[in-house]
Amino acid sequence: MWGASLALLAACQPAPGRAAAPPQPLSPATLNHLFQPLPEWASPQAPPEQIQLGRMLFYDLRLSITQQMSCNTCHLLQNYGVDSLPTSLSHKGRSGPRNTPTVYNAALQSAQFWDGRARSVEEQAGHPLLAETEMGMPTADDVEKTLRSIPGYNTAFAAAFQGQPHPLTFQNVALAIAAFERGLLTPSRFDRYLAGDLGQLTPEELQGLQRFLDAGCASCHNGVGLGGTLASPAALALLTEPATRNTQTLTVIKIPSLRNVTETAPYLHDGSVATLEETVAQMAPRQAPLSPKEIAQIVAFLGTLTGELPADYIAMPALPEDGPETASFAKTTHP
Ligand code: HEC
Ligand code: HEC
Repeated sequence: MWGASLALLAACQPAPGRAAAPPQPLSPATLNHLFQPLPEWASPQAPPEQIQLGRMLFYDLRLSITQQMSCNTCHLLQNYGVDSLPTSLSHKGRSGPRNTPTVYNAALQSAQFWDGRARSVEEQAGHPLLAETEMGMPTADDVEKTLRSIPGYNTAFAAAFQGQPHPLTFQNVALAIAAFERGLLTPSRFDRYLAGDLGQLTPEELQGLQRFLDAGCASCHNGVGLGGTLASPAALALLTEPATRNTQTLTVIKIPSLRNVTETAPYLHDGSVATLEETVAQMAPRQAPLSPKEIAQIVAFLGTLTGELPADYIAMPALPEDGPETASFAKTTHP
Protein backbone atom coordinates (compact mmCIF):
# COMPACT_ATOMS: atom_id res chain seq x y z
CA MET A 1 0.00 0.00 0.00
CA TRP A 2 2.87 2.33 0.92
CA GLY A 3 4.56 1.53 -2.42
CA ALA A 4 1.38 2.06 -4.38
CA SER A 5 0.82 5.45 -2.74
CA LEU A 6 4.33 6.54 -3.57
CA ALA A 7 3.83 5.56 -7.17
CA LEU A 8 0.67 7.64 -7.25
CA LEU A 9 2.52 10.55 -5.72
CA ALA A 10 5.24 10.35 -8.31
CA ALA A 11 2.52 10.52 -10.95
CA CYS A 12 1.26 13.74 -9.39
CA GLN A 13 4.58 15.53 -9.42
CA PRO A 14 5.39 17.95 -12.22
CA ALA A 15 7.65 16.73 -14.98
CA PRO A 16 11.28 17.90 -14.41
CA GLY A 17 11.14 20.50 -17.17
CA ARG A 18 8.14 22.19 -15.59
CA ALA A 19 9.49 22.45 -12.07
CA ALA A 20 10.27 26.19 -12.28
CA ALA A 21 7.04 27.17 -14.00
CA PRO A 22 4.40 29.18 -12.08
CA PRO A 23 1.97 26.92 -10.22
CA GLN A 24 -0.63 25.32 -12.47
CA PRO A 25 -3.99 24.43 -11.03
CA LEU A 26 -3.58 20.82 -9.93
CA SER A 27 -6.19 18.92 -11.82
CA PRO A 28 -9.00 17.62 -9.58
CA ALA A 29 -9.13 14.52 -11.79
CA THR A 30 -5.52 13.69 -10.86
CA LEU A 31 -6.03 14.59 -7.21
CA ASN A 32 -9.08 12.36 -6.91
CA HIS A 33 -6.73 9.36 -6.92
CA LEU A 34 -5.40 10.59 -3.59
CA PHE A 35 -8.22 12.56 -1.96
CA GLN A 36 -11.98 12.28 -2.10
CA PRO A 37 -14.54 14.97 -1.26
CA LEU A 38 -16.69 14.51 1.83
CA PRO A 39 -19.93 12.64 1.24
CA GLU A 40 -23.16 14.25 2.47
CA TRP A 41 -23.42 11.56 5.08
CA ALA A 42 -21.04 8.95 6.50
CA SER A 43 -23.22 5.97 5.60
CA PRO A 44 -25.13 4.02 6.74
CA GLN A 45 -27.79 6.54 7.72
CA ALA A 46 -29.92 5.64 10.75
CA PRO A 47 -33.58 6.62 11.30
CA PRO A 48 -34.05 10.27 12.43
CA GLU A 49 -35.26 9.19 15.90
CA GLN A 50 -31.95 7.39 16.45
CA ILE A 51 -29.93 10.39 15.36
CA GLN A 52 -31.95 12.69 17.61
CA LEU A 53 -31.46 10.29 20.56
CA GLY A 54 -27.73 10.19 19.86
CA ARG A 55 -27.61 13.99 19.86
CA MET A 56 -29.26 14.04 23.30
CA LEU A 57 -26.91 11.40 24.69
CA PHE A 58 -23.86 13.20 23.30
CA TYR A 59 -24.77 16.26 25.37
CA ASP A 60 -26.09 14.50 28.48
CA LEU A 61 -23.97 14.98 31.62
CA ARG A 62 -25.84 12.16 33.37
CA LEU A 63 -23.92 9.57 31.34
CA SER A 64 -20.91 10.06 33.66
CA ILE A 65 -20.36 8.88 37.22
CA THR A 66 -20.33 12.45 38.55
CA GLN A 67 -23.20 13.52 36.24
CA GLN A 68 -20.96 16.42 35.30
CA MET A 69 -19.33 15.20 32.10
CA SER A 70 -20.66 14.45 28.63
CA CYS A 71 -19.02 13.63 25.31
CA ASN A 72 -19.31 17.35 24.61
CA THR A 73 -17.15 18.21 27.65
CA CYS A 74 -14.08 17.03 25.74
CA HIS A 75 -15.35 16.99 22.15
CA LEU A 76 -16.92 20.47 22.16
CA LEU A 77 -19.03 20.56 19.03
CA GLN A 78 -18.86 24.37 18.88
CA ASN A 79 -15.05 24.13 19.09
CA TYR A 80 -14.40 21.78 16.16
CA GLY A 81 -14.94 18.72 18.36
CA VAL A 82 -11.93 19.22 20.65
CA ASP A 83 -11.11 20.64 24.11
CA SER A 84 -7.95 22.50 22.99
CA LEU A 85 -5.98 20.99 25.90
CA PRO A 86 -2.71 19.05 25.48
CA THR A 87 -4.38 16.02 27.10
CA SER A 88 -7.98 15.72 28.28
CA LEU A 89 -9.19 15.98 31.89
CA SER A 90 -10.89 12.92 33.40
CA HIS A 91 -14.08 12.91 35.49
CA LYS A 92 -11.76 13.37 38.48
CA GLY A 93 -10.21 16.45 36.93
CA ARG A 94 -6.87 14.73 36.27
CA SER A 95 -5.02 14.94 32.99
CA GLY A 96 -5.42 11.81 30.86
CA PRO A 97 -2.59 10.39 28.77
CA ARG A 98 -3.72 11.50 25.30
CA ASN A 99 -4.83 14.47 23.25
CA THR A 100 -8.54 14.58 22.39
CA PRO A 101 -9.07 13.97 18.65
CA THR A 102 -12.00 15.65 16.96
CA VAL A 103 -15.31 13.84 16.47
CA TYR A 104 -15.92 15.74 13.21
CA ASN A 105 -15.47 13.45 10.21
CA ALA A 106 -14.31 10.66 12.57
CA ALA A 107 -17.02 8.31 11.27
CA LEU A 108 -15.16 8.16 7.94
CA GLN A 109 -11.97 6.81 9.53
CA SER A 110 -11.10 3.12 9.41
CA ALA A 111 -9.34 3.45 12.78
CA GLN A 112 -10.52 5.17 15.97
CA PHE A 113 -8.31 6.18 18.93
CA TRP A 114 -4.64 7.06 18.55
CA ASP A 115 -3.77 3.36 18.64
CA GLY A 116 -6.66 2.32 16.39
CA ARG A 117 -8.15 -0.03 19.00
CA ALA A 118 -11.67 0.52 17.64
CA ARG A 119 -12.53 0.49 13.95
CA SER A 120 -15.84 2.32 13.73
CA VAL A 121 -17.62 5.01 15.72
CA GLU A 122 -20.18 2.32 16.65
CA GLU A 123 -17.39 0.24 18.19
CA GLN A 124 -15.83 3.32 19.81
CA ALA A 125 -18.79 5.05 21.44
CA GLY A 126 -19.21 2.74 24.45
CA HIS A 127 -15.57 3.05 25.58
CA PRO A 128 -15.53 6.60 27.03
CA LEU A 129 -18.60 5.93 29.20
CA LEU A 130 -16.75 3.24 31.13
CA ALA A 131 -13.21 4.62 30.91
CA GLU A 132 -11.74 5.64 34.26
CA THR A 133 -9.85 8.46 32.51
CA GLU A 134 -13.08 9.71 30.92
CA MET A 135 -16.69 9.41 32.13
CA GLY A 136 -15.94 6.74 34.72
CA MET A 137 -19.21 4.75 34.86
CA PRO A 138 -18.38 1.50 36.73
CA THR A 139 -20.38 -0.87 34.47
CA ALA A 140 -22.66 -0.94 31.41
CA ASP A 141 -25.44 -1.84 33.85
CA ASP A 142 -24.96 1.48 35.69
CA VAL A 143 -25.35 3.37 32.41
CA GLU A 144 -28.58 1.51 31.65
CA LYS A 145 -29.94 2.02 35.20
CA THR A 146 -29.29 5.74 35.08
CA LEU A 147 -31.00 6.13 31.71
CA ARG A 148 -33.96 3.93 32.72
CA SER A 149 -34.54 6.22 35.70
CA ILE A 150 -35.23 9.08 33.23
CA PRO A 151 -38.78 8.58 31.87
CA GLY A 152 -38.13 10.54 28.66
CA TYR A 153 -35.31 8.19 27.66
CA ASN A 154 -37.51 5.11 27.90
CA THR A 155 -39.80 6.61 25.25
CA ALA A 156 -36.90 7.97 23.16
CA PHE A 157 -35.15 4.56 22.98
CA ALA A 158 -38.45 2.86 22.11
CA ALA A 159 -38.95 5.31 19.22
CA ALA A 160 -35.34 4.98 18.03
CA PHE A 161 -35.16 1.18 18.16
CA GLN A 162 -38.66 0.18 17.14
CA GLY A 163 -39.67 -3.45 17.45
CA GLN A 164 -36.99 -4.30 20.02
CA PRO A 165 -38.45 -5.73 23.25
CA HIS A 166 -35.75 -4.06 25.41
CA PRO A 167 -34.55 -1.04 23.46
CA LEU A 168 -32.74 0.71 26.33
CA THR A 169 -29.42 -1.15 26.30
CA PHE A 170 -25.79 -0.09 26.59
CA GLN A 171 -25.27 -1.36 23.04
CA ASN A 172 -28.05 0.90 21.75
CA VAL A 173 -26.58 3.88 23.63
CA ALA A 174 -23.41 3.42 21.56
CA LEU A 175 -25.37 2.86 18.33
CA ALA A 176 -27.43 6.03 18.79
CA ILE A 177 -24.40 8.19 19.59
CA ALA A 178 -22.61 6.77 16.54
CA ALA A 179 -25.68 7.44 14.36
CA PHE A 180 -25.42 11.10 15.40
CA GLU A 181 -21.65 11.16 14.81
CA ARG A 182 -22.15 9.96 11.22
CA GLY A 183 -23.65 13.36 10.43
CA LEU A 184 -20.77 15.37 11.96
CA LEU A 185 -19.16 16.35 8.66
CA THR A 186 -17.50 19.65 7.74
CA PRO A 187 -17.29 20.30 3.98
CA SER A 188 -14.57 22.82 3.12
CA ARG A 189 -13.13 24.80 0.21
CA PHE A 190 -10.90 21.83 -0.65
CA ASP A 191 -14.02 19.70 -1.26
CA ARG A 192 -15.32 22.31 -3.67
CA TYR A 193 -11.92 22.36 -5.39
CA LEU A 194 -11.95 18.57 -5.71
CA ALA A 195 -15.44 18.85 -7.20
CA GLY A 196 -13.96 21.02 -9.95
CA ASP A 197 -14.33 24.61 -8.71
CA LEU A 198 -10.71 25.69 -9.34
CA GLY A 199 -11.21 29.23 -8.04
CA GLN A 200 -11.54 27.94 -4.47
CA LEU A 201 -7.78 27.83 -3.76
CA THR A 202 -5.45 30.85 -3.85
CA PRO A 203 -2.06 30.63 -5.60
CA GLU A 204 -0.31 30.26 -2.23
CA GLU A 205 -2.65 27.47 -1.15
CA LEU A 206 -2.04 25.69 -4.47
CA GLN A 207 1.71 25.97 -3.94
CA GLY A 208 1.14 24.49 -0.49
CA LEU A 209 -0.80 21.60 -2.00
CA GLN A 210 2.08 20.97 -4.42
CA ARG A 211 4.59 21.04 -1.53
CA PHE A 212 2.33 18.69 0.42
CA LEU A 213 2.50 16.22 -2.49
CA ASP A 214 6.24 16.75 -3.10
CA ALA A 215 7.08 16.15 0.57
CA GLY A 216 5.22 12.82 0.52
CA CYS A 217 2.60 13.90 3.06
CA ALA A 218 -0.17 12.30 1.01
CA SER A 219 1.44 8.87 1.26
CA CYS A 220 -0.06 8.85 4.77
CA HIS A 221 -2.56 11.72 4.86
CA ASN A 222 -4.79 10.65 1.97
CA GLY A 223 -8.35 9.55 1.29
CA VAL A 224 -11.50 11.39 2.27
CA GLY A 225 -10.14 12.46 5.66
CA LEU A 226 -6.52 13.08 4.62
CA GLY A 227 -5.79 10.56 7.36
CA GLY A 228 -7.82 8.16 9.47
CA THR A 229 -5.96 4.93 8.75
CA LEU A 230 -3.09 3.28 10.63
CA ALA A 231 0.55 4.20 9.93
CA SER A 232 3.34 1.68 9.81
CA PRO A 233 6.22 2.32 12.23
CA ALA A 234 8.69 1.78 9.37
CA ALA A 235 7.11 4.60 7.36
CA LEU A 236 7.09 6.88 10.41
CA ALA A 237 10.79 6.30 10.93
CA LEU A 238 11.44 8.25 7.73
CA LEU A 239 10.05 11.45 9.26
CA THR A 240 12.09 14.23 10.86
CA GLU A 241 12.97 13.81 14.55
CA PRO A 242 11.40 14.04 17.06
CA ALA A 243 8.23 12.83 15.36
CA THR A 244 9.69 9.33 15.34
CA ARG A 245 9.88 9.30 19.15
CA ASN A 246 6.15 8.77 19.01
CA THR A 247 6.51 5.25 17.73
CA GLN A 248 8.18 4.30 21.00
CA THR A 249 5.08 4.90 23.13
CA LEU A 250 2.62 3.32 20.69
CA THR A 251 3.21 0.18 18.65
CA VAL A 252 0.66 1.27 16.08
CA ILE A 253 -0.55 4.80 15.56
CA LYS A 254 -3.47 6.30 13.69
CA ILE A 255 -2.65 8.89 11.06
CA PRO A 256 -4.84 11.79 12.18
CA SER A 257 -7.21 13.37 9.69
CA LEU A 258 -6.01 16.83 8.63
CA ARG A 259 -9.53 18.21 8.21
CA ASN A 260 -10.00 21.27 10.47
CA VAL A 261 -6.42 20.90 11.70
CA THR A 262 -5.97 24.70 11.87
CA GLU A 263 -8.62 24.65 14.64
CA THR A 264 -7.49 21.68 16.72
CA ALA A 265 -4.21 22.67 18.40
CA PRO A 266 -2.27 21.44 20.30
CA TYR A 267 -1.04 18.61 18.10
CA LEU A 268 0.07 14.97 18.10
CA HIS A 269 -1.22 12.13 20.28
CA ASP A 270 0.31 13.65 23.40
CA GLY A 271 -0.58 17.27 22.58
CA SER A 272 3.11 18.09 22.83
CA VAL A 273 3.37 20.51 19.89
CA ALA A 274 1.60 23.86 20.15
CA THR A 275 1.77 25.21 16.60
CA LEU A 276 0.89 23.85 13.20
CA GLU A 277 4.15 25.23 11.74
CA GLU A 278 6.24 23.20 14.19
CA THR A 279 4.11 20.08 13.60
CA VAL A 280 4.56 20.34 9.83
CA ALA A 281 8.33 20.81 10.30
CA GLN A 282 8.45 17.57 12.30
CA MET A 283 6.49 15.74 9.59
CA ALA A 284 8.96 16.55 6.79
CA PRO A 285 11.06 13.69 5.47
CA ARG A 286 14.27 13.57 7.51
CA GLN A 287 16.30 13.65 4.29
CA ALA A 288 14.54 16.77 2.98
CA PRO A 289 13.64 19.30 5.68
CA LEU A 290 11.13 22.01 4.73
CA SER A 291 12.09 25.72 4.64
CA PRO A 292 10.00 28.21 6.66
CA LYS A 293 8.48 29.42 3.38
CA GLU A 294 7.48 25.91 2.34
CA ILE A 295 6.02 25.28 5.78
CA ALA A 296 3.97 28.50 5.51
CA GLN A 297 2.65 27.35 2.11
CA ILE A 298 1.66 23.94 3.47
CA VAL A 299 -0.05 25.57 6.45
CA ALA A 300 -1.94 27.81 4.01
CA PHE A 301 -3.08 24.69 2.12
CA LEU A 302 -4.14 23.02 5.38
CA GLY A 303 -6.40 26.03 5.99
CA THR A 304 -8.47 25.01 2.97
CA LEU A 305 -9.44 21.86 4.89
CA THR A 306 -11.19 23.90 7.59
CA GLY A 307 -14.90 23.42 7.03
CA GLU A 308 -18.17 24.88 8.20
CA LEU A 309 -19.69 23.53 11.41
CA PRO A 310 -23.26 22.24 10.87
CA ALA A 311 -24.90 24.75 13.26
CA ASP A 312 -28.44 23.35 13.13
CA TYR A 313 -27.32 19.74 13.34
CA ILE A 314 -25.23 20.31 16.47
CA ALA A 315 -27.68 22.58 18.33
CA MET A 316 -28.12 21.20 21.83
CA PRO A 317 -31.56 19.56 22.15
CA ALA A 318 -33.82 19.71 25.21
CA LEU A 319 -32.87 16.82 27.49
CA PRO A 320 -35.48 14.71 29.31
CA GLU A 321 -35.99 15.52 32.99
CA ASP A 322 -34.70 13.45 35.91
CA GLY A 323 -36.95 10.81 37.41
CA PRO A 324 -37.18 10.56 41.22
CA GLU A 325 -34.13 8.27 41.48
CA THR A 326 -31.84 9.74 38.82
CA ALA A 327 -29.83 12.11 40.99
CA SER A 328 -29.03 9.41 43.55
CA PHE A 329 -26.98 7.50 40.96
CA ALA A 330 -24.39 10.26 40.85
CA LYS A 331 -21.21 9.77 42.83
CA THR A 332 -19.06 12.81 43.25
CA THR A 333 -15.42 11.91 43.41
CA HIS A 334 -12.78 14.37 44.49
CA PRO A 335 -9.52 14.66 42.61
C1 HEC B 1 -12.53 13.12 29.29
C2 HEC B 1 -12.58 13.59 27.92
C3 HEC B 1 -13.38 12.77 26.93
C4 HEC B 1 -14.72 12.43 27.00
C5 HEC B 1 -15.72 12.76 28.08
C6 HEC B 1 -15.01 11.70 25.78
N1 HEC B 1 -13.89 11.60 25.00
FE1 HEC B 1 -13.77 10.79 23.16
N2 HEC B 1 -11.78 10.89 23.25
C7 HEC B 1 -11.04 11.51 24.24
C8 HEC B 1 -9.63 11.17 24.09
C9 HEC B 1 -8.49 11.65 24.97
C10 HEC B 1 -9.56 10.32 22.96
C11 HEC B 1 -8.30 9.63 22.43
C12 HEC B 1 -8.06 8.46 23.36
C13 HEC B 1 -7.04 7.47 22.85
O1 HEC B 1 -6.69 7.52 21.67
O2 HEC B 1 -6.61 6.61 23.63
C14 HEC B 1 -10.92 10.19 22.44
C15 HEC B 1 -11.27 9.50 21.29
C16 HEC B 1 -12.53 9.52 20.72
C17 HEC B 1 -12.87 9.09 19.37
C18 HEC B 1 -11.88 8.58 18.33
C19 HEC B 1 -11.57 9.66 17.34
C20 HEC B 1 -10.31 9.42 16.59
O3 HEC B 1 -10.07 10.14 15.62
O4 HEC B 1 -9.53 8.54 16.95
C21 HEC B 1 -14.22 9.27 19.21
C22 HEC B 1 -15.04 8.97 17.97
C23 HEC B 1 -14.72 9.77 20.47
N3 HEC B 1 -13.67 9.94 21.35
C24 HEC B 1 -16.05 9.99 20.77
C25 HEC B 1 -16.51 10.20 22.07
C26 HEC B 1 -17.89 10.03 22.49
C27 HEC B 1 -19.02 9.61 21.59
C28 HEC B 1 -17.94 10.34 23.82
C29 HEC B 1 -19.13 10.27 24.77
C30 HEC B 1 -19.74 8.95 24.88
C31 HEC B 1 -16.59 10.71 24.22
N4 HEC B 1 -15.75 10.57 23.13
C32 HEC B 1 -16.25 11.16 25.48
C33 HEC B 1 -11.56 12.30 25.24
C34 HEC B 1 -12.86 12.22 25.68
C1 HEC C 1 4.60 8.03 7.46
C2 HEC C 1 3.26 8.59 7.53
C3 HEC C 1 3.16 10.12 7.60
C4 HEC C 1 3.67 11.03 6.72
C5 HEC C 1 4.49 10.78 5.47
C6 HEC C 1 3.24 12.33 7.21
N1 HEC C 1 2.49 12.19 8.34
FE1 HEC C 1 1.62 13.68 9.39
N2 HEC C 1 1.14 12.37 10.84
C7 HEC C 1 1.37 11.01 10.82
C8 HEC C 1 1.08 10.44 12.11
C9 HEC C 1 1.18 8.98 12.50
C10 HEC C 1 0.71 11.52 12.94
C11 HEC C 1 0.41 11.45 14.43
C12 HEC C 1 1.76 11.46 15.16
C13 HEC C 1 1.63 11.60 16.66
O1 HEC C 1 0.55 11.89 17.15
O2 HEC C 1 2.63 11.43 17.36
C14 HEC C 1 0.74 12.71 12.11
C15 HEC C 1 0.37 13.99 12.54
C16 HEC C 1 0.30 15.10 11.72
C17 HEC C 1 -0.25 16.37 12.11
C18 HEC C 1 -0.89 16.68 13.46
C19 HEC C 1 -2.36 16.35 13.40
C20 HEC C 1 -3.02 16.42 14.76
O3 HEC C 1 -4.26 16.51 14.77
O4 HEC C 1 -2.36 16.34 15.79
C21 HEC C 1 -0.11 17.21 11.04
C22 HEC C 1 -0.53 18.66 10.95
C23 HEC C 1 0.54 16.46 9.99
N3 HEC C 1 0.75 15.18 10.44
C24 HEC C 1 0.88 16.97 8.75
C25 HEC C 1 1.74 16.30 7.88
C26 HEC C 1 2.41 16.94 6.76
C27 HEC C 1 2.23 18.40 6.34
C28 HEC C 1 3.19 15.99 6.17
C29 HEC C 1 4.17 16.15 5.05
C30 HEC C 1 5.23 17.12 5.29
C31 HEC C 1 2.97 14.74 6.92
N4 HEC C 1 2.13 14.99 7.96
C32 HEC C 1 3.56 13.53 6.60
C33 HEC C 1 1.78 10.30 9.72
C34 HEC C 1 2.44 10.85 8.63
